[in-house]
Amino acid sequence: MASRYPEVLAAWQRDPQAFWAEAAQEIDWIEKPRTIFDPKAGVYGRWFPDAVCNTSWNAIDRHVHGGRAAQPALIYDSPMAGEQRIYTYAELLEEVRTLAGVLEEFGVTKGDRVVIYMPMVPEASFAMLACARLGAIHSVVFGGFAAKELATRLNDAKPKLVLTASCGLEPGRTVAYKPLLDQAIELAEAKPNAVMILQRPQLKAALVDGRDHDWHERVEDARRNGRAADCVPLLATDPLYILYTSGTTGIPKGVVRDNGGHMVALKWSMWNLYGTKPGEVYWSGSDIGWVVGHSYVVYAPLLHGATSIMYEGKPVGTPDAGTYWRVISEHKCVALFTAPTAFRAIKKEDPKGEYVKRYDLSHFRTLFLAGERADPDTVKWAQDVLQKPVIDHWWQTESGWCMVGNPVGLGTMPVKLGSPSVPMPGYAIDVLDEACRSMKRGEMGSIVVKLPLPPGCLPTLWKQDERMRESYLDEFPGYYKTADAGYVDEDGYVYIMGRTDDIINVAGHRLSTGGMEEVLASHPDVAECAVIGVKDDLKGEVPCGFIVLKAGVNRPPNEIETEVVSLVREKIGPVAAFKRAIAIERLPKTRSGKILRATMKKIADQDQWSMPATIDDPVVLDEIADALKKKAG
Ligand code: COA
Ligand code: AMP
Repeated sequence: MASRYPEVLAAWQRDPQAFWAEAAQEIDWIEKPRTIFDPKAGVYGRWFPDAVCNTSWNAIDRHVHGGRAAQPALIYDSPMAGEQRIYTYAELLEEVRTLAGVLEEFGVTKGDRVVIYMPMVPEASFAMLACARLGAIHSVVFGGFAAKELATRLNDAKPKLVLTASCGLEPGRTVAYKPLLDQAIELAEAKPNAVMILQRPQLKAALVDGRDHDWHERVEDARRNGRAADCVPLLATDPLYILYTSGTTGIPKGVVRDNGGHMVALKWSMWNLYGTKPGEVYWSGSDIGWVVGHSYVVYAPLLHGATSIMYEGKPVGTPDAGTYWRVISEHKCVALFTAPTAFRAIKKEDPKGEYVKRYDLSHFRTLFLAGERADPDTVKWAQDVLQKPVIDHWWQTESGWCMVGNPVGLGTMPVKLGSPSVPMPGYAIDVLDEACRSMKRGEMGSIVVKLPLPPGCLPTLWKQDERMRESYLDEFPGYYKTADAGYVDEDGYVYIMGRTDDIINVAGHRLSTGGMEEVLASHPDVAECAVIGVKDDLKGEVPCGFIVLKAGVNRPPNEIETEVVSLVREKIGPVAAFKRAIAIERLPKTRSGKILRATMKKIADQDQWSMPATIDDPVVLDEIADALKKKAG
C-alpha cells in the first residue's frame, strides 16, 4: 500500500498550525490551546503559549482513569542486577505521586531544578515524572560523566535537590556514584540543599549528616503518612527539563524542553513514525542520560499508553550477544530503537546471527537506529539476520525527536541505504552554502531547518537566549543550524555526512573534542594539542589526542601520554573513551595558525587527502602519519 507520507507532509506544508492543532487534540489539556503558535514570543516563537497542561498527568493519570490501570507501563529488565520488575500504570501512579510528595517535603516546587544522577533503574523514571508532576525542572546527568562535568551542570542548573543512587553497574565493575557526587558538590559553587540516595544492594553509600537522605526511608515514610502530590497546572511553555549536551566549548549547552509542544510531538511520533499502538511494548535501548532515553524510554511510550522497557545492560556480554533478542521475545516488544554501535557490537560477537534463531521474535516488527550514521554494512546485516525492516532516523538532543526518518505508521517509504530518508512534518530542511544560498540537489552543504522549529524542539538554552541565537540561529538568518553537513538527493532523501563543528560521536555518545582539548591543555607539560575523532569499527569514532610538549620537558613522552589519558577519564569521564594520546614535535597549521584537524583526521582514517593550499610546513603532515604508524605498530 502506498505511504500516506506525501499527503501528510503536504497537509503540514499547507497549514502548519492546523496540522499541529490537530495533533494537539491527542493531549489532555487543562486549558486547551487557543493560540497554536506565537511568532513573537521567545527566541523564534512559541508553540501553544496559552495552553495549560501537565506532562505527568498525560503520561500516567489519564491512562489509569482511561482503562489502562492494570496494563504494564514500565518493565525493568536488568541482566546487570539479575532483576526484573513490572509496574502497571496504577503502580506507576502510586510511585510517582508518592515520590512527588517527598520532593515537596524538600521544598521543591514549580520552577525549581532537580538534578538526577542515576543509573538505569525504575526510580530514575519515577524521579523524572515526579518532577514533571510538580513543574520542577529535571536535569538528568549521564552516569558515565566524571565529577567535574557534574559540577559544571550543578553550577548552571543550580538545583535545590539532587537525586542519585549508591551505584551504577558496568560489566566487571560497580561504579560508586556517591564519591563522584560528593566531589562534584565540593567543586561546584551552587550547592544543593539536599541529596536523596537510592541505596542499591550491590553497594551502600555512606550518607553525609544533615544533607543526605535515604530514598527508601523517605518514600516509605511518605507512604505510611499518606503523603502524595497531584499534578500542578503548568503553561505548555513552562520548562519540563534541561538536558546538557556537548557544545563547541567545554561548557555544555543546557537544552530546554517545554511541556506542551514536547507532548504533542512525541505522541504524534509513536504511531506515525514508530508504528506502535497504545498497549504494545516499545523498547528504546538508550540510557536515560541521553535525549533518546528522555524521549523514548520515559516520555513518549507513556504518553502513548504503551509499555516501555527500561534495560540495564549492554548489547553484548550481559551475558551474551543474544540478550537483545531475549528481551524482545520475553516482553513481546514490537519495536526496538538503539544506536548502530550496539548492532556492530552484536555483529562482531555473533556474525552469523546464531543467537537470533534461539528466540521467538514473532511480535517484533521494526528496528530503529539513530544517534550516529547507520553504516550500510550494519543495516544490511541487521536486515538479513532479523528479516525485519531496519529504519535509520536522524535527530539531535536539540530537536528532541526525529527530524528525518521513515514513517512506519504512515507507511514506510522505500529505504535507501546510507540515508535516514525524508523530513518529518514540521521540519523544512534545506542545505545551504556559506553565503546562505540553497545548494542544488546532490550537493553538500550545511543542513538547516527553516524556522520555526516544530513543537518538541528546544525553545532556547537554559537562561541563555543569546547563546541560543549565537549557536544556532545567527549564522543562517531565518534558519536553525543543525551543525551537520550533508545533501538532499533527487527524491528528497537526506544524507547526513558529518558534523561541521567539534562534535564527535563515540558509540552513539555525543562528545566535544574541544572539551577534551581543554583537558589536555591543562596538563603542565603540554604546550599545545589537538583532538580528532578517528574511525573505529565498533564505536564509529574514537578520540585521538596529539600533544606537543613544552620546551625543556625531559620526561619520557609516553609517561605524559598515559597521564593525559587518565586526566580525560578523571575530568570528563570514562564515556569519553579517550585511550590514545600521541606526543609529536609540532602540529600541522595554516600560515594563519589554524590547526589542520580535518586533514589530520583524513590521514588517521587512511582516507584520500590533498595538501591544504594554506599549510605552513607540509612536512608536519608526514610527521603525523609516522607518529600514527608508530603508535599503531
Ligand atoms: N556509568 C558509568 N560508566 C559508564 C556508563 C555509565 N552509565 N556507561 C558507559 N560507561 C563507561 C563504560 O564502562 C566504559 O568504561 P571503560 O573505559 O572502563 O571500559 C566507558 O564508559 C566507555 O563506554 P562505551 O563507549 O559505552 O563502551 P563499552 O565498551 O562499555 O560499550 C557498546 C560499547 C557499543 C556496547 C555500548 O557503547 C553500547 O551499548 N552502545 C549503545 C549506546 C546507545 O544505545 N546509545 C544511545 C544513543 S541513541
Ligand atoms: P545527540 O545530540 O547526542 O543525539 O547527537 C546528535 C548528532 O548525532 C547529530 O547532529 C548527528 O551528527 C548524529 N546523528 C544522530 N542520528 C544520526 C543518523 N541517523 N545519521 C547520522 N548521524 C546521526
